[in-house]
Amino acid sequence: MYSVSFKVLVFGLVLVNVVALCNGGSTSTFVRKEEKTVDMLFDSDVFAIPPGYNVPQQVHITQGDHEGKAVIVSWVTMDEPGSSEVRYWSENSKQKKLIAKGRHVTYRYFNYSSGFIHHCTIRNLEYNTKYYYEVGIANTTRQFWFVTPPQVGPDVPYTFGLIGDLGQTYDSNKTLSHYEMNPRKGQALMFIGDLSYADDHPYHDNVKWDTWGRFVERSVAYQPWIWVTGNHEIDFAPEIGESVPFKPYTHRYHVPYRASQSTAPFWYSIKRASAHIIVLASYSAYGKYTPQYQWLKEELPKVNRTETPWLIVLLHSPWYNSYDYHYMEGESMRVMFEPWFVKHKVDVVFAGHVHAYERSERVSNIAYNITNGQCNPVKDNSAPVYITIGDGGNIEGLANTMIEPQPDYSAYREASFGHAMFDIKNRTHAYYSWHRNQDGYAVEADSMWFFNRYWYPVDDSTTH
Ligand SMILES: *[C@@H]1O[C@H](CO)[C@@H](O)[C@H](O)[C@H]1NC(C)=O
Ligand SMILES: *[C@@H]1O[C@H](CO)[C@@H](O)[C@H](O)[C@H]1NC(C)=O
Ligand SMILES: *[C@@H]1O[C@H](CO)[C@@H](O)[C@H](O)[C@H]1NC(C)=O
Ligand SMILES: *[C@@H]1O[C@H](CO)[C@@H](O)[C@H](O)[C@H]1NC(C)=O
Ligand SMILES: *[C@@H]1O[C@H](CO)[C@@H](O)[C@H](O)[C@H]1NC(C)=O
Ligand SMILES: *[C@@H]1O[C@H](CO)[C@@H](O)[C@H](O)[C@H]1NC(C)=O
Ligand SMILES: [Fe+2]
Repeated sequence: MYSVSFKVLVFGLVLVNVVALCNGGSTSTFVRKEEKTVDMLFDSDVFAIPPGYNVPQQVHITQGDHEGKAVIVSWVTMDEPGSSEVRYWSENSKQKKLIAKGRHVTYRYFNYSSGFIHHCTIRNLEYNTKYYYEVGIANTTRQFWFVTPPQVGPDVPYTFGLIGDLGQTYDSNKTLSHYEMNPRKGQALMFIGDLSYADDHPYHDNVKWDTWGRFVERSVAYQPWIWVTGNHEIDFAPEIGESVPFKPYTHRYHVPYRASQSTAPFWYSIKRASAHIIVLASYSAYGKYTPQYQWLKEELPKVNRTETPWLIVLLHSPWYNSYDYHYMEGESMRVMFEPWFVKHKVDVVFAGHVHAYERSERVSNIAYNITNGQCNPVKDNSAPVYITIGDGGNIEGLANTMIEPQPDYSAYREASFGHAMFDIKNRTHAYYSWHRNQDGYAVEADSMWFFNRYWYPVDDSTTH
C-alpha cells in the first residue's frame, strides 16, 4: 500500500511539473494523513525528569563565539542553585578534566517561578574534536558530548539540519526523531524560531518551557542548535502583568551576539565551517536608523566569501510566502533589506512561522519605487532562494490553504510536517533536501542542488 501511494505521488509530481513550465512551480498533490496535533502528555517519556536530587535537566548547547571554538552550555536545576561549573575534556586528553565557570539566573512569570537556569561558556576548544562534558555535582552528575566544527574555511563540508516552529506535540516528536535518524547526519541545527508554544496555554504556562527543554535535550545536548527568535518567544502579556518582551526566552537561551558586535541577542552572526550565518529578528525594530538596521548594514560587507563561501540568513517571518497564513507579514522587512541581500548575493534565506513547507525560485522584487509601478518579483540570479520550514509540528496545526494560482516565484509547496537538511559539499555545491514526516526518514520529498552565488553563480532553478 505504501509503495502504491508513493508511485501516485511521483506520477502526480511529474504531471504538475509539466504544468509548471507555464505557471509557477508545483503544489504537491500529497495528501497527508489527518491526525490531531496535540501536545504530548505531561507524563510522556520525552518529558521525564532525570532521577535524583537537584539533577541537571534541559541541557542544551549552542555556538559560543564567532568562529566555532566556544560552546555555551545551559541547563536547569530545580531544587537549589547547585553548581554552574562545566567539567570537560577532549576525547584525546586521557580524561584530564578542565573546568569552566558559569552563572545562573532565575525569573518569575505571572505565578510561575523558574528553576535555576545555568549558562556556562567553554572557550578555546580545538576544532574538529570530540569533547565530553559534565554538569551537576556528586551523584547527580550527568555526562554528554559534542563535536566542535572544523576550522572555518572555504571547502569544509558541513551538514546543517533545519527545523522550525517545533512545539511539543506527537508530530513535533516525529519531526525530531526523523531529523535524528536522517542518514545525512546533521552536525548542527538551525532552529528557525518558535520553540515551546508555552504562550498558547493559559497564563503562558511556563512549565511548558521546562517540558520543551527536556523534550529536545536528546538532540541539543549533543549538537548546537542555532537559535532564531520567533513570535512565540515574545511572551508579552500586560493583561497578566508581563510586559517585558522575550523574558522566558532570554533567560533560558543565550546566544553569542556580542561576538558579532550585535547589541541584542535577537540579531547576530556566526561563522561555522564554510558558512557565514546571519540571524535576523522579525520582532525587533529593523527600520532605518534602528540598531538592527545599522548592524546588518555593517555586517554584510564583512562577510568574506573566500573564507566562508556560503552566506545563509535565518529569520522567522518569511518574505516570500504563498500560503493564506501570515500572508505578507514579512513584507516590511523585505522592503528594508532585500536590495542588500541581492547586492551581497545571499545564497539562501530560511524562515518559519507559516506551518508548512515552501521553496522559492531565485527572485527579487527591488525595482519598485513609489512612481514606477515595477512591483512584481522577477527572476534574479543574484537573489537568494527563500525556504519556509515552519513545519515542525506544533499545537497550532498545519497551514493548508494556499494562494491560488501558485505564484511564479514559488517552486514547490506542500502542507506537511517535516524537517530539512543543508549539506555543504564544497565552495560551489550544497545539497538541500526536505523530508516530510509521513515518509520514511531517509525519503526526500523535495530537493535541490544549490550552486553558490559567489563562486558558481549559474542558474540552479529546478523548474525552468
Ligand atoms: C545521593 O547521595 C546522597 C548522599 O550520599 C544520598 O542521600 C542520596 O540518596 C543520593 N541520591 C541518589 C539519586 O543516588
Ligand atoms: C497559576 O495560576 C493559575 C490560574 O489561577 C492556576 O491554575 C495555576 O495552578 C497557578 N500555578 C501556580 C504554580 O501557582
Ligand atoms: C518520541 O520519539 C521517541 C523516538 O522516536 C520515542 O522513543 C518516544 O517514545 C516518543 N514519545 C512520544 C510521547 O511519542
Ligand atoms: C578573506 O579570507 C581570506 C582567507 O581566510 C584571507 O586570506 C583574506 O585576507 C580575507 N580578506 C579580508 C578582506 O579580510
Ligand atoms: C523610479 O524608477 C524609475 C524607473 O525605474 C526611475 O527612472 C526613477 O529615477 C526612479 N526614481 C527614484 C527616486 O529612484
Ligand atoms: C564540489 O562538489 C560537487 C558535488 O559533490 C562536485 O561535483 C564537484 O566536483 C566539487 N568541486 C570540487 C572542486 O571538488
Ligand atoms: Fe511563528
